[in-house]
Amino acid sequence: MKKNKIWKFFIFFPKNRVWSRIINIWPSNFITDHCLRAAIARFFGVQIGRRAIIRKPVYFSHPRNIIIGDDFQMAGDSHFDAMGKITIGNCVTLGPHVLFITGSHEKGPHKDRCGQSYAQPISIEDGCWIAAGVLIGPGVTIGAGSIVSAGAVVLRSMPPDSLIAGNPARVIQVLE
Ligand SMILES: CC(C)(COP(=O)(O)OP(=O)(O)OC[C@H]1O[C@@H](n2cnc3c(N)ncnc32)[C@H](O)[C@@H]1OP(=O)(O)O)[C@@H](O)C(=O)NCCC(=O)NCCS
Repeated sequence: MKKNKIWKFFIFFPKNRVWSRIINIWPSNFITDHCLRAAIARFFGVQIGRRAIIRKPVYFSHPRNIIIGDDFQMAGDSHFDAMGKITIGNCVTLGPHVLFITGSHEKGPHKDRCGQSYAQPISIEDGCWIAAGVLIGPGVTIGAGSIVSAGAVVLRSMPPDSLIAGNPARVIQVLE
């Protein structure tokens, strides 16, 4: 390969797809879910605390932007779009099909509405439970001890100890 083609190969190489392939290739069992997948994620640059349980499939982009605390557990099929930073505290649980989307686009003109892209960080504080099928959008912080109930679409930050539901998501109950 010519010299100028080599750097292009590394810049345009579909790294995210390769990481996802490697982390998801292993069948689900106690060892892969409790140790191996977290070790692979760490190898690619995700910071993960102790005792993480990661079930497949899981998709990471920009793994160096992801920080996860201790005692994290997730059911399968979650997607971490980490163009911006994703910070997850201690003791956070994810149901299946959770989407963390840090990137978005400005509203573009008539001929192309999908304008300039940007990213904002997401933060899930300690003790939260994110139930099945939740979407968390750019710039959102979920306060400690909150529950985001199934199917919620969260595009604004939410206070601690809240039961959050709906699209657009809102606080439907203050938890004790
Ligand atoms: C969060 C959850 C546990 C709340 O359950 P609950 O305490 O029994 O809540 P209730 O069923 O009493 O509902 C309380 C109110 O919130 C509303 N609500 C509950 N879940 C909702 C949801 N996902 N979306 C919109 N509204 C919801 C109910 O309609 C009800 O409103 P109402 O008082 O006007 O009738 C449950 O809704 C949920 O999302 N479970 C997650 C299941 C899941 O993802 N499992 C995967 C395991 S990780």
